[in-house]
Amino acid sequence: MEVIIVKGYDEVGKTAADIIATAMLHKPDLVVGLATGTTPISTYRELVRKHKEGGLDFSKVITFNLDEYLGLPMHHPQSYYTFMWEHLFKDVNINPENIHVPSGQILDHERFCQSYEGEIRRAGGVDVQLLGIGRDGHVGFNEPGSSLYSRTRLKTLTKETVEDNSRLFDNPHEVPRFAVTMGVGTILDARQVVLVASGKPKAQAIADAVEGPISSMCTASALQLHPEVTVVADEDAASLLKRREYYDWVRNNKRQIHEVIEKQIRERLRLDHKEWG
Ligand code: GLP
Repeated sequence: MEVIIVKGYDEVGKTAADIIATAMLHKPDLVVGLATGTTPISTYRELVRKHKEGGLDFSKVITFNLDEYLGLPMHHPQSYYTFMWEHLFKDVNINPENIHVPSGQILDHERFCQSYEGEIRRAGGVDVQLLGIGRDGHVGFNEPGSSLYSRTRLKTLTKETVEDNSRLFDNPHEVPRFAVTMGVGTILDARQVVLVASGKPKAQAIADAVEGPISSMCTASALQLHPEVTVVADEDAASLLKRREYYDWVRNNKRQIHEVIEKQIRERLRLDHKEWG
């Protein structure tokens, strides 16, 4: 797990967007897992800027959103579908046919959840999964106690999550109590994961996820099992990390890795040249 600590919220978005944009340049038909919540908004803002100013191409990109509230119509102002259109899709050249957001209006939820998993598989699996984190360490809507092997399914939200999300609803009684969410197992299947976090309220969750024991009590901690995770946190969100100095040390030394490798290659070539006369 790589931990990148940056100054503030905007830098979190820039760093995460750079990772996603780099992956898109390598694979134009990248399959991206998308997250909602206020934290990824700066990432989406930066991706939109890269599209408008640098021509970052979304035409072949395929997206799968993590979750959706159960019972909200697609075009409800607080649905995650609406959120994604507002913050990303309307401003980039994505093909609407390549967009997948779980439906909040499903009658046969088991069948729907299985078919969502099937669609991810048919697209070749998620290449890069963007995640936020809840105050209790949840990813997607995988609340504490969720199986770390879980797949897409219905979840009952905790009181805390309902309260946290009520700020976005005009009427707090309207906040849905249930959601459809990719499971922790679904998230762990992604080839690469980028988790973004900002602000003091996320500090404990980040410390538990990065340095705590792997536990279903903090579903983000399951990311410790994944070989390719980058946590991008601002100073406040990183403030309870105990190994902060090491993360900065790794980051500052990382560019030297290339120099060391290049030096080794040069040395090898010099020896080969000598051997062959
Ligand atoms: C909801 C979403 C999560 C998100 C979390 C935190 O629970 N399902 O995906 O990470 O909110 O949101 P915020 O970034 O607004 O704090």
